[in-house]
Amino acid sequence: MRLAHLGTIVAILASPAAAQSLDYEFFKARVEPIFLAKRPGHVRCVVCHSDRSNNSFKLEKIPPGDKFWTEEQSRRNFEAVSRLVVPGDPAKSLLLLQPLAPEAGGNAFHTGGRQFASRNDPEWKILARWVTGQTARPGK
Ligand code: HEC
Repeated sequence: MRLAHLGTIVAILASPAAAQSLDYEFFKARVEPIFLAKRPGHVRCVVCHSDRSNNSFKLEKIPPGDKFWTEEQSRRNFEAVSRLVVPGDPAKSLLLLQPLAPEAGGNAFHTGGRQFASRNDPEWKILARWVTGQTARPGK
């Protein structure tokens, strides 16, 4: 159908994927804390994802006595986590799909559980904002 075609073309042109770059400051301020946060009934992401586990989501180990990564470690986390997303496309980003409930479009199985029940989860939305580059909005 003609209209359908037009819709596709508009969608492609409007896609923010092209020339999208990921925001490091937003990552450090808003995304990394999600990896440290305790969600009821779940183990924190960092617990499983900072050892030499056999999966590709690898976070640095926080130095003993500290509560957050050093600047250098955050940079390395940023590099590693950036490889798990498709800028502009949360629906293709492993970081967003693996911990999301299958009913909400997430991947079928994650050893770390269904940490986000839906795409309306506030933390999931922050991950999505980072991936789509909508990081300029002020406030929390
Ligand atoms: C109980 C341990 C555990 C916790 C907690 C956990 N994960 Fe995982 N995660 C795993 C394991 C093991 C894998 C490897 C594939 C699998 O079994 O799901 C994995 C895979 C992944 C992957 C895909 C990378 C790959 O190489 O397959 C992503 C992305 C991911 N987890 C994100 C998260 C996020 C985000 C959190 C926190 C919201 C989290 N995980 C919490 C254990 C965990």
